[in-house]
Amino acid sequence: MQRTKLVAGNWKMNLLQSTGSALVEAFLQKVELRQDVDVVVCPPFTLLGRLRDELRRSHVHLGAQDVFWAEDGAFTGNISARMLADLGVSHCIVGHSETRGRFGKLDTSETTLPYFGETNETISLKIQALFYQSIEPILCVGETLAERKAGQTESVIAAQLEGALSGFDAAELFFFIVAYEPVWAIGTGETCPADEAERVCSFIREWFKNKFNDPDLPEQIRILYGGSVKAANAKELFNKPNIDGGLVGGASLDATEFATIVASA
Ligand code: PGA
Repeated sequence: MQRTKLVAGNWKMNLLQSTGSALVEAFLQKVELRQDVDVVVCPPFTLLGRLRDELRRSHVHLGAQDVFWAEDGAFTGNISARMLADLGVSHCIVGHSETRGRFGKLDTSETTLPYFGETNETISLKIQALFYQSIEPILCVGETLAERKAGQTESVIAAQLEGALSGFDAAELFFFIVAYEPVWAIGTGETCPADEAERVCSFIREWFKNKFNDPDLPEQIRILYGGSVKAANAKELFNKPNIDGGLVGGASLDATEFATIVASA
């Protein structure tokens, strides 16, 4: 079956009101938006309201980078799925390696981990909260360099998928999006070779086949690749049969580069 490609830009903790608006304006001028490619921009929480207004007349979707699972209440500093929905957010990244405390460039160490308390359990709660607000989660999974070297790529990813999704039924997951993001390729400039990214994305699709007793589900789910995607490598990655687009960090901060990546999809 033909799955619609999806390209999402993850701005991470970058840009202010003026620079964020300028980037969106430049991107909208350069990008050719097509029916067969979904485009999502995920700015920091501070820019969601402003970007909602600026993206309103385009077909670019608004995404968030994280969410808290409770609907409201005494949770200082957090943002709920209901608040995101109220801002017109349609997609939300969950379980990014950086919120799990696993970094490609900085050391993943005892010093960083305690500040980023994401676990499979919190990821699962976040997905549930997003479903409740009809926001599409983009679940990130991926191995560190040490795990890859130890031959644990598949077991790490299977455990992340199992931990996040075991409480859900196939019917709930029909529009689900997974991003395979090898931690060692994030922000490092080192992209996973396209054949290897395809192999792991096909492993992820296979995981859905084995886990859920619904033959249509694995064909519907979109699996993105993320980790140093740029204009120069996007086409080769997106041409692979099991790679349905990309989650783009650094390169989404450059309007021309991001527009070229979208054109590659
Ligand atoms: P990168 O980040 O493209 O800068 O490697 C990707 C991501 O973290 O989603």
